[in-house]
Amino acid sequence: MTKQANEEVPDAGGDLAGRHIVLGLSGGIACYKAAELCRSLIKQGASVQVVMTEAAEQFITAVTLQALSGRPVYTSQWDSREANNMAHINLSREADAILVAPCSADFMAKLLHGRADDLLSLMCLARPIDKVPLLIAPAMNREMWAHPATQRNMAQLSSDGATILGVGSGFQACGETGDGRMLEPPELLEDIIAFFTPKVLAGQHVLVTAGPTYEAIDPVRGITNLSSGKMGFAVARAAREAGAQVTLVAGPVSLSTPRGVTRIDVKSAQNMLEAVMQQAPAATVFVATAAVADWRPASSAERKIKKDGSGQAPQLAFTENPDILATLAQSPRGLSGALFCVGFAAESHDLKDNAQAKRRRKGVPLLVGNIGPATFGRDDNALLLLDAQGSRELARASKLSLARQLVAEIASRIKRAG
Ligand code: CTP
Repeated sequence: MTKQANEEVPDAGGDLAGRHIVLGLSGGIACYKAAELCRSLIKQGASVQVVMTEAAEQFITAVTLQALSGRPVYTSQWDSREANNMAHINLSREADAILVAPCSADFMAKLLHGRADDLLSLMCLARPIDKVPLLIAPAMNREMWAHPATQRNMAQLSSDGATILGVGSGFQACGETGDGRMLEPPELLEDIIAFFTPKVLAGQHVLVTAGPTYEAIDPVRGITNLSSGKMGFAVARAAREAGAQVTLVAGPVSLSTPRGVTRIDVKSAQNMLEAVMQQAPAATVFVATAAVADWRPASSAERKIKKDGSGQAPQLAFTENPDILATLAQSPRGLSGALFCVGFAAESHDLKDNAQAKRRRKGVPLLVGNIGPATFGRDDNALLLLDAQGSRELARASKLSLARQLVAEIASRIKRAG
């Protein structure tokens, strides 16, 4: 038998580098997802120690999780491999967090009562409560999830200091459909990374625009651009990781919504302006990453424009679109600083001069310049931050890493101003 589970190299610069996670599995069909979760944690640089209950071993073998984690799995409180025979103490003392995924309804009830008749529950109870956070990813049938006992247990566990990561919704292994599925491994990973991120934007409400806009010519044609929306989605994710409440107004893009972010889909620049104006009163930060079309056809035909056989192209007239960023930056809350406005500038040349001129024209305290054709659709970018004092480069990196640097910059400016 060959085992090739560790073919993907852990990322030393990953989002969980240096973190040690104890991954606890209780009994449930979602144990199959724990294998992928274990792998994802390791890929992000974490070390993972797996602990399984007897019920979990009915669903997945310790061999699989040992191969994926690269460490022997613990299943019993009577494990003589530990010199002092106190696995529950030793394992919990070295953890940066204990993550129970899946956490069954029964295991939640057990945790709630502080019962400790197997290694995993014993270890959760024995953990230093102020130093080792407990994260719970529930997984159960929809009726079990909706049951008042489970909801009561969840509320109590959360007030006892545990972090409940929520559940997914959809088709369940039992054949029913509803709430209670364990979150998917990429969702859990995003939540765990967010959990460890310092909450520098706590209490802020960040409004982000992202992607292109689509300006209709007729029912089947329109004008758009090559913006992928990736930078804006990364900003939304980074702001949520930093503890902000985030609303993302997105043009037509095919990207999944970052965890915990409220998304409003729009098509045209006018739709985007309307959505932004509706959300703006509650926002404290506005980040305009969208590549808004500068013009739209003066009128959109109700029916498809057909060739008339003359060989002549139709004459299209254009109207300028509203400038969403300038509208907010020039609003009373924008001018007073109650709404901190950040613009982006997609330029093709003379980045510094063009971007600085744009910053002044739009009246924003901070503008982020980048070379449009060099970034559209890519996962990385290089940025230039410009304010009234001058400019600073952010070296080429992934859009998520740049978004996190930008969020840190925004947070420190708000703090200074406040
Ligand atoms: N922007 C906006 N509404 C518009 C046009 C742009 O909110 N109608 C915002 C963008 O989201 C970005 C900034 O303004 O944050 C600059 O966008 P950019 O396309 O680089 O500049 P333009 O204003 O279109 O200027 P120009 O076409 O002259 O470069």
